[in-house]
Amino acid sequence: MMAALPNSPFRPGFGSSPPVLAGRADLIADFADGLTDGPGSSARVSFYTGSRGVGKTVLLNALENSAREQGWVIVAETCTPGLVSRLVENRLPTLYEGIADSPPRRRTTGVSTAAVGGVTWKNTPESVRDLRAWVDAITDALAERDSGLLLTIDEIHPRHMSELVEVASVVQHAIREERQVAFAGAALSSSREGILKGDSTTFLRRADWRELGRIPDAEAARAIREPIEGAHRQVTDAAVAAALDAAQGYAFLVQLLGDLMWKNRPTEALITAEDVIEVVPKASRRMGATILGPDLEGLSQIDRTYLLAMALEKVPRSTGRIASRMGVDPGFANVYRQRLIGAGVIRANGYGNVEFVTPGMDQYILERTDITELPLPLPPSADPPSPPTTATSGE
Ligand SMILES: Nc1ncnc2c1ncn2[C@@H]1O[C@H](COP(=O)(O)OP(=O)(O)O)[C@@H](O)[C@H]1O
Ligand SMILES: [Mg+2]
Repeated sequence: MMAALPNSPFRPGFGSSPPVLAGRADLIADFADGLTDGPGSSARVSFYTGSRGVGKTVLLNALENSAREQGWVIVAETCTPGLVSRLVENRLPTLYEGIADSPPRRRTTGVSTAAVGGVTWKNTPESVRDLRAWVDAITDALAERDSGLLLTIDEIHPRHMSELVEVASVVQHAIREERQVAFAGAALSSSREGILKGDSTTFLRRADWRELGRIPDAEAARAIREPIEGAHRQVTDAAVAAALDAAQGYAFLVQLLGDLMWKNRPTEALITAEDVIEVVPKASRRMGATILGPDLEGLSQIDRTYLLAMALEKVPRSTGRIASRMGVDPGFANVYRQRLIGAGVIRANGYGNVEFVTPGMDQYILERTDITELPLPLPPSADPPSPPTTATSGE
């Protein structure tokens, strides 16, 4: 009988924590310091943005773990409809019961909200009063135990801001009262502007905003090598180098390539560069379906034409040459450049140049016939631009 093949140690799925969390030690330490420093610390309200697959959800999980190690209690939620009622009716009461020796005096849906200043809160929606009452009750109970409450909210989207703003107002208030509360949120980079616009409380404006970037090569190498060796196989330096080259520090690709190279010749003890070369096309297809395709959803024809003209340019990609390839004047092209930067698809890279945010996007665009069939140069009567609507699924 053949021995069972060892399972892949990699975690190429959204929201699954990787075996080696690479390149985020500073962010985690900054947040942990905020918890130690006390209610005045700006790191206690942190907000992480980045493209799909950059590692936002995994980072929130790591922050939760590090807070837990400091003795904090955690409520992890997603910014989807029903957020406030989930918190008020389920998550916070359950948490409270776990903390307090005796349950709070309860009305139908919450703790005694009258006790927390009925006068000031007269015009506040009941859900917010309940939310605040629970946060007060929990932080009171935690204060006696030298602990605090961390609330994490993933996938914050401008479309679902109203409930987030309710949560934000309660957290902001609790911080003003010097309660032990911290907040960490995550959103796509393209959502940042819309989120700030929808936030009536200044809470998010004052938050510590961090953009998640690519993982440095030395760290990404560790994220590939250590899980393989930990699972009792070996990997050549050339294989690691080839994987780094293909992953370009992009967290999702690090896991995906690790997983595919592991599975390519599962009975061999040694993973080689050849394994990497063989699995790269599969990794690209998976990237296209799960990340690059959704990134392009909701972009207009002219946005896509800009991206095609850009993909056709040699690196570094000059905005001037992109405009002339499109057959439009630089001012017109610049409107689309700005839109695409706002949508998180491209970014400025030095003076007068742009680059794609997600590795492989140029190849993906060049290979997609539905994109490359667009007319170049543009017809003269191109419609004036309107704000882009980026993909709404998920985040
Ligand atoms: N710091 C990291 N080091 C290694 N792999 C990571 C890291 N962060 C995320 N990943 C991997 O990347 C993939 C996407 O992570 P996820 O947090 O779901 O991304 P996002 O929430 O930004 O879309 C997962 O497979 C995860 O295991
Ligand atoms: Mg996520």
